[in-house]
Formats: sequence, C-alpha cells, structure tokens
Amino acid sequence: MELDSSFDIPPSSIPYYRVAEFASNLRVIIEKDYAAMSRRAAGIIAKEIRSKPNAVLGLATGSTPLGVYQELIRMHETENLDFSGIRTFNLDEYYRLRPDHPESYHSFMSKNLFEKINVKPENVSIPDGMATDIGLFCENYEKRIKDAGGIDIQLLGIGRDGHIGFNEPGSSLGSRTRLKTLTEETIRDNARFFDNEGEVPHFAVTMGVGTILGAKKLLMLASGSNKARAVRDAIEGPVSAQVTASVLQLHPNVFVVLDEEAASMLSRSAYYVYVERMAEKFEAEAGT
Ligand code: GLP
Repeated sequence: MELDSSFDIPPSSIPYYRVAEFASNLRVIIEKDYAAMSRRAAGIIAKEIRSKPNAVLGLATGSTPLGVYQELIRMHETENLDFSGIRTFNLDEYYRLRPDHPESYHSFMSKNLFEKINVKPENVSIPDGMATDIGLFCENYEKRIKDAGGIDIQLLGIGRDGHIGFNEPGSSLGSRTRLKTLTEETIRDNARFFDNEGEVPHFAVTMGVGTILGAKKLLMLASGSNKARAVRDAIEGPVSAQVTASVLQLHPNVFVVLDEEAASMLSRSAYYVYVERMAEKFEAEAGT
C-alpha cells in the first residue's frame, strides 16, 4: 500500500484548529502490522488510565485485542501502569456457558489480562450468561454502567460480518444489553476455540449498539485481510443495522486502529494517513 508519498505536510500556515476538530471525531490510524497496531491501541488506553486513574474501561474479547492486553501487562510490569482504581465492563459473554469453562469470556479475561494486572476483582464486570433472569440481569448491567459514570473508552473488535460485541447484522442501532442469537457465520468463526462446532453456544448476552454508542470514546481494532471488507463497510459504507460497526460513524470520538491488511480495501487510506500525521503534529505541539 502506497501510504507515504501521496501527501506532504503543508507549511506552518495550515489552520491547526481544523486538525483539532478532526482529531476529536473519527480517526483512522493505519499501522504496519499487528504488533504496531497493538502498541498503538494500548498507548491510547494507557493515556486514558494515566489521565484518569479511576477510568471506566469497556473491554472486548477475541483474538484481535490479545496483543493490546499483552502490551498493557508489559506497561503495568515495567512502566507502573496502575489499574488499582480502574473499573471494567466487558462487552459480552456466551449464554449458558459456565464462567469457569475455558472458552467463556470470563476465563478469557482472567487468563489474558485480569490475573496479570492489579485491577480489583470487585471492579470487574462481565455479563452473566448463567443469570436465571437474563432480562433483569441486562437491565442491571445497564444501570451499573450508568452508576459508574458511563464507559470512558470502549475497546472493540469487529466480526467478519461487521458486528461489534455480538450485535449481529439486523441489530437495532438503539439496542441495549440483551440476549442475542448468533449467526451461522459467527458460530463457525468461533468454532476454532472449541473442540467442535457443536459445542459453540448459539446465544450470547451482549451490550447493545446503543450501549456501545453511549461510551465517551470508542477504540475499534482490526487486523488481517479477512477483516478488510467489514472494515471498509463500517468506515466507508452507509450507516446500517446490517453492519453494526458502521454506527461508529455517528459517534463523536472514535479511534479505529488497523493494520495494513485490514485497511487494504479502504478507498481513502492515503487521506487517513495524511490526517493522522497532521493530528500527531498538532498533538506534539499542543503537548497532549
Ligand atoms: C466475537 C466477539 C467480538 C469480536 C469478534 C471478532 O464475535 N464477540 O467482540 O470482535 O468475535 O473476533 P476476533 O478478534 O477473534 O476476530
């Protein structure tokens, strides 16, 4: 992908206040590979934690955020990144999969992040797929997010069909936390984590699209060419319930961090790279 030669940073007469406006809307950041994408996204989360030690983080599962979690653990171990005041809410959990099942999102989060940082267990919330009254649980989950002051930054992956959380195509763009039926494509995609496809749950409890839109900042990640179409549809396609990630276009404060493969179907990559360079220059000068 030709990213470097298309634009030059214009002379100092450029109206930097315009860049500030760009920087606070939808920033598409394209990094060379998965490792660089992970470092960049972890840096955004670390900045949030350092500026607000009691920040509320919205967290995600899947293979995509693993590198971010590794980087946050490294920063905790070597750079004193402190999670002791942090509260977390996870996006989703499989329905009727016991929390101690190795493929539950409870297990995933413990193993890949919580056991290795100093977050307090009482500050961690993950949807309870075992709740007897799921409707009531979902209402309370929404209330707990609200009582915590709302989510400061919500981390998101993206499904190959453009879903966020488990908000499959057709989900209402105003939806709140609820039980969702997974599509065949998602069940097949997630089968790689289970012994066989028959074991993959067909339902999940997930924050709704409206819940996600309520976060103060969104940080969506995508890596690899198998996500390129979903990324293009989400960022450059129409806002539609058929691609729930497209709702990011409606939010005022979004970072989309991609590797080059995931960005490969975007038609405006060179422009995003140019805007990002300007935003970085502005931030360096403003000392933010
Ligand atoms: C699941 C999760 C999503 C995740 C998606 C993609 O559907 N509920 O939150 O974004 O998988 O996962 P991966 O990052 O493994 O491609």
